[in-house]
Amino acid sequence: MSIIERYITLAGSAITDYYSAKAPLNLYEPVDYVLGLGGKRLRPALCMAACHFYGGDGTSAGSAAMGLEMFHNFTLLHDDIMDGASIRRNQPTVHVKWNANTAILSGDAMMILANQMMLNVPDAVLKPVQQLFLKTALEVCEGQQYDMDFEHRNDVDVDEYIEMIRLKTAVLIAASLKIGALIGGASEKDASLLYEFGVNLGLAFQLQDDYLDVYGNSAEFGKSIGGDIVCNKKTFLLINCITNANDEQRKILDYWLTKTDFDRNEKIAAVTQLYNELNIASISKMRMEQYYQTALLILDQLSIADEYKNELKVFAGNTLFRSK
Ligand code: IPE
Ligand code: IPE
Ligand code: MG
Ligand code: MG
Ligand code: MG
Repeated sequence: MSIIERYITLAGSAITDYYSAKAPLNLYEPVDYVLGLGGKRLRPALCMAACHFYGGDGTSAGSAAMGLEMFHNFTLLHDDIMDGASIRRNQPTVHVKWNANTAILSGDAMMILANQMMLNVPDAVLKPVQQLFLKTALEVCEGQQYDMDFEHRNDVDVDEYIEMIRLKTAVLIAASLKIGALIGGASEKDASLLYEFGVNLGLAFQLQDDYLDVYGNSAEFGKSIGGDIVCNKKTFLLINCITNANDEQRKILDYWLTKTDFDRNEKIAAVTQLYNELNIASISKMRMEQYYQTALLILDQLSIADEYKNELKVFAGNTLFRSK
């Protein structure tokens, strides 16, 4: 088992152990619920692994790692309200199982719990870790706002999309690595390089998430397929479809983008067919490959052992080709 895989397992058990089961139950039960549903535990594992790679004991980044996972899960509670998503990790989302108010308040509590956990880092790095975490948390909000704003625009370009996913997704993955590296004693130069590696990994990660939202298997992905199409999310797929469509295809696309009363499956099928006709999936895969290659170039410049670089390389590759 690789070091990263070991930290994935550790993060998983630490999170299940966390169960609070505290009163008021309607505040804390949804927290236990969402944390107990699993997930890839990517961010806490990367945080602890980065700490390990710089000579620290990965578990000394354990509380920060938990904070990052707690924060990530908080964003999911609110994201699922915003996206009208009813299934996550193959189970009903919190706002469906309880209600929107519960998902809002339990999410707020998780954000605060995350902040408490992030306080538990060595004094020497407390301030930089706090600053990076809070900056990242605010950037995620910015990304999420762009994501929603873009639903109502049809002229979003690829650069705007990339900036949106950098904010909503990539910076948290990047910060997870950098926070772990700082706790492990990495130089500022290395910590920043690792951050850039994480940004590129995160961009590829969100491109794959968008791809799976259309082409994934719902049981494996754990979410309903086609949710992005239903909401007119300006994914890389849709932006390229808008740009590459011929007049006839554009007419069909405009019909579905502007129709307010529609059958969900019918819209998903129609838009997916346009993606297929225009070979949009392969354009997306090419872009992912670019970010992967950039990430690998950055990896080369790190001062960690080659075997650790290789672990990150393999992990990034698996992330690119994941099906969930
Ligand atoms: C989902 O994140 C939100 C995105 C940034 C795409 P993950 O795909 O890491 O979700 P879990 O934690 O594994 O369920
Ligand atoms: C997720 O983007 C970004 C955050 C949760 C901050 P998505 O909306 O694509 O994530 P999923 O697909 O619902 O997990
Ligand atoms: Mg969503
Ligand atoms: Mg979203
Ligand atoms: Mg998604």
